[in-house]
Amino acid sequence: MRSVKSYQASSNSNLASMPQPLTARRSAPISGRVKVPGDKSISHRALILAGLAIGRTRIEGLLEADDVMVTARAMQALGAAVSRSGAAFEVLGQGVGGLARADGVLDFGNSGTASRLMLGVLAGYPMRVVLTGDASLCRRPMSRVLKPLAEMGLMVEGNKDTLPLTVEGTQDLLPIVYELPVPSAQVKSAILLAGLHAPGRTTVIEPLPTRDHTERMLRFFGAEVDVQTRENGTRAMTVGGDAELTGAHVVVPGDPSSAAFLVAAALVCPGSDVVIENVLLNPTRTGFFETLRDMGADIEILGLHDEAGEPVGDLQIRSSDLKGVRVPPERAASMIDEYPMLAALAAFAHGETRMEGLAELKVKESDRLAATAAGLVACGVEARVEGDDLIVSGTGAVRGGGVVETQMDHRIAMTFLTLGLGAEEPVSVDDIGMIATSFPSFVPLLTGLGAQFG
Ligand code: S3P
Repeated sequence: MRSVKSYQASSNSNLASMPQPLTARRSAPISGRVKVPGDKSISHRALILAGLAIGRTRIEGLLEADDVMVTARAMQALGAAVSRSGAAFEVLGQGVGGLARADGVLDFGNSGTASRLMLGVLAGYPMRVVLTGDASLCRRPMSRVLKPLAEMGLMVEGNKDTLPLTVEGTQDLLPIVYELPVPSAQVKSAILLAGLHAPGRTTVIEPLPTRDHTERMLRFFGAEVDVQTRENGTRAMTVGGDAELTGAHVVVPGDPSSAAFLVAAALVCPGSDVVIENVLLNPTRTGFFETLRDMGADIEILGLHDEAGEPVGDLQIRSSDLKGVRVPPERAASMIDEYPMLAALAAFAHGETRMEGLAELKVKESDRLAATAAGLVACGVEARVEGDDLIVSGTGAVRGGGVVETQMDHRIAMTFLTLGLGAEEPVSVDDIGMIATSFPSFVPLLTGLGAQFG
């Protein structure tokens, strides 16, 4: 068994490396059967809960991408041994409260999920830890997690909203009842993870449902989790404190947020027919596929079944004529990472697409609202931002051309490369380096289906 590359304090390899531009060209129909790599959200959670469990956890299908590896290294730095065993990973958990002292700085690279979820874990340990990340992560707001965690007892040095941050947890965390001011699965998860250490019950109330992988996986590892839908439609998630988790066998399904790019490629290359196997189809993640169906896309779900507590199935996509639609704000959480790709698809549709209530897009790896609109305009598409809404006027075809600035954002890079596969003129992006954070096999996988890059 090989151990995951040992944890290194504060290196910033992404910034140090040279930008790698790439061009996508109009492609012939793409076809074939593929699998996308494991879901990023579930992969982070599997490593964290495995480290907090007692005994050994085996994780199959873990996403081997930079974002997830920072979580693996952080858990390793805290004493949970993470090793590869054939195609799977094994984690030797230390129990909730059993993690060791972290030496030096924990570097979370580009990953908002890793840093925010780990803050929830660290809240329960009386040790002083410095958290940092790359230039993109160091611009992203942390007060959304720090505020509830401080209520529970986490001490935060300085009055700061961004990394680098120094924090000190405590063994005497207080359980809280916290209503999320923004719909964020990361904030919900950080509080529930901290709640594992607190005596009594910790409750998070969310105004709109966000991805529920933490709740599902906590149960899977044996924690006591109660989910109530309240009279006003909000949901309350309660975790029992002083929890004991037991090592488990986790199977990570394919990431629907990565599948979204393949679905889009099939839709924009006429004559395409693609099957994507083993995709996570949790209803808190399927807003993109539902919206595409509203737009007239031919997407079929095959063989829906449950695997390790999550719904999974195959997706069959055939290229289709799309029409513009209104995407209501209530749908935002269930497709928050897919808006750049949806906006690009809206440019290939006939008519206007209005995507409403996208304030959260402004605080992702880049300001995705602005970056998406700018990239579309650079490709000859009529697109504008009105407040928190994005409006795209589709004409059925996209001119393309131009170079899109990815702004250290993997999803902006993949969105505009995918758009280029169906555009009249080639589309270049300034740097594909960040794609490794979530979907390292994006280019080879699409090339294997017939897509043209370079
Ligand atoms: C994630 C939650 C979402 C999403 C991110 C992954 C998670 O962020 O954008 O890519 O795994 O919990 P928010 O919780 O900030 O909406």
